[in-house]
Amino acid sequence: MEALRLEYARLVTRAGKKWWCAGLFSCALAGLSAAGGAAPQATCGRPGAPPCPLQRWMREQVAAARYEKDLPKLAEHLEQLARWNPEPDEWTKWTRYARDGAAAARAGRRPDSSCRGCHRDYRTRFQRSYRDKQAPPRAP
Ligand code: HEC
Repeated sequence: MEALRLEYARLVTRAGKKWWCAGLFSCALAGLSAAGGAAPQATCGRPGAPPCPLQRWMREQVAAARYEKDLPKLAEHLEQLARWNPEPDEWTKWTRYARDGAAAARAGRRPDSSCRGCHRDYRTRFQRSYRDKQAPPRAP
């Protein structure tokens, strides 16, 4: 159990570092496009600040269920994420990634390609406009 916790902490740290670098990159991009007005800066999610609501939910619920191989729980989280889409009419692939991921998890497969696809297409856009949005409710 202790080993599992340690391994999970390592996983989160590693993921956090990778995404944090990507975050710096998107900060640079946001700076470049600031001609049209500075983007609002979230107070969470940077080094020394608490994680942002979705970021934390992803780590503590989604990544944890994936790591623990609790695929039914992972499927529920991903269904919630599909319903929680901040721009359901515009971000149609968000809903599809989340639903496809949930279907894969229900079929007993890790939905890693859905995780990757959504992060690639939406993480930066999400961080620009919705970083302070309250995370989805916890699955029962
Ligand atoms: C439908 C879109 C979507 C899907 C599917 C998705 N994510 Fe995410 N995830 C996001 C967004 C958006 C963020 C950025 C949140 C932020 O930085 O505030 C994120 C952030 C994360 C983070 C936090 C990284 C950090 O900054 O520390 C982890 C961990 C994560 N996701 C894991 C997963 C895993 C594992 C899966 C698949 C089982 C998954 N996600 C599926 C949208 C998604």
